[in-house]
This record gives sequence, C-alpha cells and structure tokens, in this order.
Amino acid sequence: MRVIGLGSGRRGKVTESLVRMVLESTGMDHDFISLSGKLVRPCEACNGCVDTNTCVLPDDFSAIAERVQGADGLVFGAPTYWARMNAKGSAFWERLCFSGRHSELFPMKGMPAAMVAIDGSDGTGEHVLADTKRYFADARLDVVGHVSAQGEYACFTCGLGEECSVGGFHTLYGEGISIAPERIPSMDNQCPHLGDGEGAIRGRVLRDAARRLGERLARRIQSRPRRSPDAP
Ligand SMILES: Cc1cc2nc3c(=O)[nH]c(=O)nc-3n(C[C@H](O)[C@H](O)[C@H](O)COP(=O)(O)O)c2cc1C
Repeated sequence: MRVIGLGSGRRGKVTESLVRMVLESTGMDHDFISLSGKLVRPCEACNGCVDTNTCVLPDDFSAIAERVQGADGLVFGAPTYWARMNAKGSAFWERLCFSGRHSELFPMKGMPAAMVAIDGSDGTGEHVLADTKRYFADARLDVVGHVSAQGEYACFTCGLGEECSVGGFHTLYGEGISIAPERIPSMDNQCPHLGDGEGAIRGRVLRDAARRLGERLARRIQSRPRRSPDAP
C-alpha cells in the first residue's frame, strides 16, 4: 500500500516539510510530489473530460493526477496566498474534481486523506483548510484530519524585509527589528513573533500533531476494505 504526499508550496519549506512528516509518520511506503515548478493550468471548463473522466489539457497535471488517484491514501498540503489556497494547489483540485465527477465516477471515493494548511501569519491555515475541505468533499475523500502551521513569508529572504512596511516581516514584528534566525518560522520555531519561547513550544506541539495525524491516516488506510483491481 502506498501513500502519496502532494504539496503546492515551495521546495524545502514548511508546507513540504510538514506533508513529508505526516507521510513518514504513516510508516507506509510513500512518495512526495511537489507542484512547485510544474505547469498545472486552471480548469478551462472545456468538457473534454466528460466521456473519459480524464483531463485533456496538455501540461503536467495528468501524470500527477494518475499517481494521486492510484494511491491508497493522500496527504495534501498548500500555503495561503491572499486568504485562499494558492492558485497552483487550487488549479490542481479544480481539474481533479471536475474531471472525476462526470457520470458520478469519483475515482478517489473513500480514499483516506489528510490536510496540511500553511499561512504566514498565525499558523491556523484557516483559509486553506476551508478550501481543501470543499475539494476533498467534492472528490468524496474520507477526511482523516488536518494539521496547520505557520510558514516563512518570502519577505524574510527578499532582501527588503526589514524596511518594507507592507511586507510579512513587518506585519509580524513591526519597525526596527532585524531578521535573525530565531525570528524565522520553521517546523521547530512556530510563531516566534509571540516571544517567551513560544516558537520552540509550538514547534514541539506541531511535530506531535503531525506524527499523530500520520498514524491515524495509516490506521484508516489499513482498515479500509481492499479495492478489487476489477472494481469500476
Ligand atoms: C502571493 C502571496 C500571498 C500570500 N498571502 C498570504 C495571506 O493572505 N495570509 C497569510 O497568512 N500568508 C500569506 N502568504 C504567506 C504564505 O502563506 C507563507 O509564506 C507560506 O509559508 C508559504 O508556504 P511555503 O513556505 O511552504 O512555500 C502569502 C505569500 C505569497 C507569496
């Protein structure tokens, strides 16, 4: 049995790290697919998928969708862009959900799936969670749970973060503060802007939550009746 991790954040950053941690905590065979650098256009509503339940747009989507649909379980993670799931993640789900639903096929129906939701601000990932829930419900996935975290605004490394008053670093820390390693959010340093050693405490809580989510996902996958290879 194989679990697929799919992430629409940057390579090596918090979205990917957290998806990977949930995956590893399943203790099952797994693969991680990053949408970063891949071309996944939004749905054109061309109806080219109606007869075959397969999207006809010629980009990287179809090969990824095939691997996701063939898995026994899924961990999906996305960052928040403009109070929504980022466009790359959303484009993927637009096409997966639309191509799968004609004639009520729902190729991933009942597949156990876990959600990973990242933002740059308070670590609740609330907008990504809301969007992911809608897509998971439409795809008829079996939602096992979620884990949310704070990621690193690109403003931490853009070179202007300490001066730019409309950037993410200023939003968190305000004027006159330098960008130092202990102020950068990571898996082990969650919401460090809160001070009082909160970053390390929340980091431990996050790792614990990710571990438990992975274990729960594995139990759900293992308790699911095996699919017959001939099943429609
Ligand atoms: C274009 C853009 C818009 C963003 N909008 C929001 C936002 O509305 N709210 C928020 O909390 N974070 C926002 N962020 C911050 C990202 O959610 C954050 O940087 C996250 O860590 C990115 O995930 P990654 O580091 O795994 O790639 C935005 C980032 C970008 C690049």
